[in-house]
This record gives sequence, structure tokens and C-alpha cells, in this order.
Amino acid sequence: MLKRLRRNRRTAALRALVREHRLDVDDLVMPLFVQPGEDKKDEIKSMPDIFRLSPNLIVAECIALWDLGVKAVALFPALDDSVKDAKATESTNEDGLYQSTIRAIKAAVPELLVISDVAMDPYSSDGHDGLLSENGEILNDESLPILAAMAVSQAKAGADIIAPSDMMDFRIEYIREELDSHGFEHIAILAYTAKYASAFYGPFRDALDSAPRSGDKKTYQMDSANVREAVREAGTDIDEGADIIMVKPGLPYLDVVRALAEQSEVPVAVYNVSGEYAMLKAAAQNGWLDYKSVVLETLTAFKRAGASLILSYHTKEVAAWLKEEA
Ligand code: PBG
Repeated sequence: MLKRLRRNRRTAALRALVREHRLDVDDLVMPLFVQPGEDKKDEIKSMPDIFRLSPNLIVAECIALWDLGVKAVALFPALDDSVKDAKATESTNEDGLYQSTIRAIKAAVPELLVISDVAMDPYSSDGHDGLLSENGEILNDESLPILAAMAVSQAKAGADIIAPSDMMDFRIEYIREELDSHGFEHIAILAYTAKYASAFYGPFRDALDSAPRSGDKKTYQMDSANVREAVREAGTDIDEGADIIMVKPGLPYLDVVRALAEQSEVPVAVYNVSGEYAMLKAAAQNGWLDYKSVVLETLTAFKRAGASLILSYHTKEVAAWLKEEA
């Protein structure tokens, strides 16, 4: 028979020889949650094995990740309500939790890439990514200076990659210009380009206590039914100077990853979000799924769809598995 497809599947060595996509620790980014204090470590209820850590433990975690071969972390702050306000004032505090933690990480592990998050929600008493008007609208252009000031303050603290996750229009251009005018033209922007208004962010909002206090995020995050619009978002972000674009969430949006990967001139990242992590952990804890197998299958699916890099809460575990096998 001419086309007998099982020939290439006959042995493990043969399957490895013809394998199209591989997971590599170089492509993985570990998201981390920092909280104030010293030696503080609190498990996030809806994300088993993921913790909010005080800065000293974040530094220890970064050293451990680097030893496992992980090259990048994405840092998010879990702040006390007492420092939150309508204008996210705390987000530009150079001695604040976020900036001082970035400095501590870079001092301890200088080569580890720190990806910083630009959005108002962790600092906002309204829990929204942009500024809220009196009648409850999210103001676009008025939010831009706040976001750009936040980006500059993170770059000053030593962030390697600035990642705007807020979904305001024109923020990439605005932030790019502001970074450049402060001497940070070498600092890359990873744009949350196709960020959907998704219920899969639930556990993350528990982790940061950052759920919107009113309304939802549907006037700025994308409608989950759309893919053409994601291509349009990619076009504007790339025109505005984005160095990497991202799709988020991951698994329910593999078609969007594929669509952007086929058209984009910049690398495409994917965010395997908190709810996706929670699903696999919960099923594994119940004995319903084999954890390692489903995690590797999921992350490989991102590579197959065309992602160059993957933000995932499974990163540390996967890095350890890959190291064992090497
Ligand atoms: C908000 C932000 C969110 C996530 C990262 N940045 C959630 C939201 O839009 O409320 C979600 C990440 C995750 O669920 O893992 N700026």
C-alpha cells in the first residue's frame, strides 16, 4: 500500500523523529502574584499550588525558576484595598510593592526576564482596567496617560518587557512614545492584543481581588464570538509598535492563535489563563484526568496552533518535567 500512515508511528524513536512540535522551557513564562509582607505565602483557593508570595519569597521563587531553566516571569500585584483609588495612583509609586519587587528580582537574577503588567485593575478601587467616568463608562483616551506613566515607572524599576493588558485603544502607541521619550526605546512591548471578555479569568480575580466592582469588561475586552476582529486588533497593535502580540485565554481560542500566527509579522504569545489551570488541577485532584499528560498535551496544542511563547501557571511543573527528561 502506498500511503500506510501507521508506518511513522511504529516505535517511540520513529515518532520522535517525525514529531512536528516540541515544548521547550525557553518558550514558557511563569505568572507570579506578589503581595505585601515578609515570608508570606497564601494559596489561591481556586488555583491549587499557586500562591500569593511576599517579595522575599518571590525572589526565592525566581531563583528556583531560573535553576529550572525558566527565562521569564509575568508579575502581578495583589494589593491592600487601602492603597487602591479611582486613578490607580499607587501604580506609579516607585517605592510601591510592584516596582520594588521588580528591582529585587532583577538584583537577584539579572538575566531572568521580568514581564510587567500595565492595567489599572489591581490598583483601582473600581476594579476596571481603565478610568471610570461618573456615569460608569470606561474612559479610553483619559486612561492612556495613567497607563503610560505606569509603564515608564515599571521600566525604571527594571522591567524587561512591558505588557499592556487593559485593551484601551491606542495604548500601544501612547506607551511606546512615552517609553521612548524617557530613554526606554530598547524595552519591548508585549501587547494583550486579542484579550476576550472571558469567564476563565475568575480565579485570577480571586487572586488579586480585582473583579470589577460594577458592570463587566465587555466594552473593552473582546466578544468571544469574534475572530476577524482579533486580526484587526493585531493590525493596529503591530502598526502602533507592538513587539509581541498575545491571545488570551488560550485553549478555547486556539483558532485565534492560528489566525494571528498565520498573518503576524511579530511573534504570537498565548495566555493559558487561571480558569484553564483550575480546570486541569481540579480534575486531576479528583482523579479524573492524568495531570502530567493533559498539561503537556494542552501546552503542545499551543505550539501546534502557532504560538511562539506561552504564559502558563503550569510552567514550573513543566520545567521540572522537561529537566528530568533531559
Ligand atoms: C487584567 C488581567 C486579567 C488577567 C491578566 N490581567 C483579568 C481580567 O481582565 O480581569 C487574567 C489572567 C488569568 O486569568 O490568568 N488586567
